[in-house]
Amino acid sequence: MSALACKDPVMPSAKQATSVENQWEKELQANKSRDVWQRPSDVIDLLGDVSEYKIADIGAGTGFFSFRLLLRGASAIAIDIDPRMLEIIESFKQNLSSEMQTKLETRLALPSDAKIKKDEVDIILIINTIGYIENRIEYLKQLYEVLPDGGKILIVDFKSRQLPVEAPSLEYRVPLFQLEQDLANSGFTSIESNDAILDYQYTVLASK
Ligand SMILES: C[S@@+](CC[C@H](N)C(=O)[O-])C[C@H]1O[C@@H](n2cnc3c(N)ncnc32)[C@H](O)[C@@H]1O
Repeated sequence: MSALACKDPVMPSAKQATSVENQWEKELQANKSRDVWQRPSDVIDLLGDVSEYKIADIGAGTGFFSFRLLLRGASAIAIDIDPRMLEIIESFKQNLSSEMQTKLETRLALPSDAKIKKDEVDIILIINTIGYIENRIEYLKQLYEVLPDGGKILIVDFKSRQLPVEAPSLEYRVPLFQLEQDLANSGFTSIESNDAILDYQYTVLASK
């Protein structure tokens, strides 16, 4: 699965962007409906007070969650395998205060390696991306290794049923029971899933 094949239904692609302003405009339009069905604020609330934490946003795309984490006082590493996404985030970053800018880093990853150093982050977030990751258990094991004891991972993705919003084909969705099993097989504990908070998506929070 290449990054280019990841057609995000809610984020404009880099190709569509003719300028940062244009991109912002598209972003705002697209995000209006997404704010309703994905309720990013409620999703971040699942992590509690994140203001002291450094969070890796794997498959950051154009930074929908990375920027919201900054607004909660967290530091974020926006990680993606598509350099064009990171360029967009870097462009948006220029509009932030210098204090916020220092709290946001972009990082180019490989499909099989998120490039997170050991104990570098407290929390890992994977939103609308887990279905694109091949060799999921191997990948999750790597993430488990780099997290400190007590570190957390939060994964949010689409339920495996017909949905009234644009969502990836079933091929790129991971059923909740499968993901729970994969997290357990990768070493994670205290696996708490919820498929009731959001209408079209499930959330899974797990700890090291
Ligand atoms: C559907 S988008 C989600 C973007 C963002 N998380 C959001 O919720 O708006 C999926 C993103 O994951 C990236 N991606 C796909 N496979 C990846 C991998 N193995 N590691 C990191 N990023 C990946 C794609 O390049 C794309 O930007």
